[in-house]
Amino acid sequence: MDAITLMKRFTLFPMGLLVALSATAQEDERLALSRDAAAQLGQELTATLLTALGTDGPVEAIDVCSVEASPIAERLSEQAGARVGRTALRVRNPENAPDDAAREVMAAFARDLAAGAPAPPEHFETRPDGSARYMSAIVLQPLCVTCHGSEIAPELATAIAGHYPADQATGFAVGDLRGAFIVEWPAPGAQIQ
Ligand code: HEC
Repeated sequence: MDAITLMKRFTLFPMGLLVALSATAQEDERLALSRDAAAQLGQELTATLLTALGTDGPVEAIDVCSVEASPIAERLSEQAGARVGRTALRVRNPENAPDDAAREVMAAFARDLAAGAPAPPEHFETRPDGSARYMSAIVLQPLCVTCHGSEIAPELATAIAGHYPADQATGFAVGDLRGAFIVEWPAPGAQIQ
């Protein structure tokens, strides 16, 4: 091996490694931040929901959810530098509708849950343009059945239909996949959409 080949090996190897490391470091960071953002969105929505249910009951809680859910998601999106929200295969708010790729991820989540996944499944992918998407499954809890279950009280059903005439988000049982948290990272230099 002559001196030049040796030098090339030494210079090429660390450079390649650096690029690989920084890509991985960014992915790790985005994954960690995505998990935090999703957890925070879940906590804030649950806290808002519980307060509304405890104060006024489920009919008024529909009003609260319809007014509060998106400002909470917007504030957390600004904090995270990524778009943080919720989606589902069957949505209540059409603004939460998934694209085809998110639909496929949730179909896989549903299969994992049906197969007995011990924890809510999650998904993270970085696209060739450097944008990335995180998703984690939202599993239906007993608390959710009042508004997303199979037997919705008539007064509540009227309130839901008033806000969401195209509601698809009923008929779920405890343990079902209700939807997913979704965190969208822009490509470098791109704006959050
Ligand atoms: C008081 C009624 C009520 C309860 C209880 C409730 N939700 Fe909802 N849920 C709503 C409303 C209203 C929306 C639409 C919010 C919006 O406009 O973004 C919604 C939307 C959602 C969405 C976003 C996707 C979509 O369908 O638009 C998910 C996911 C969700 N709920 C999961 C849950 C889970 C999980 C629980 C239990 C922890 C729960 N909900 C409890 C009323 C409720």
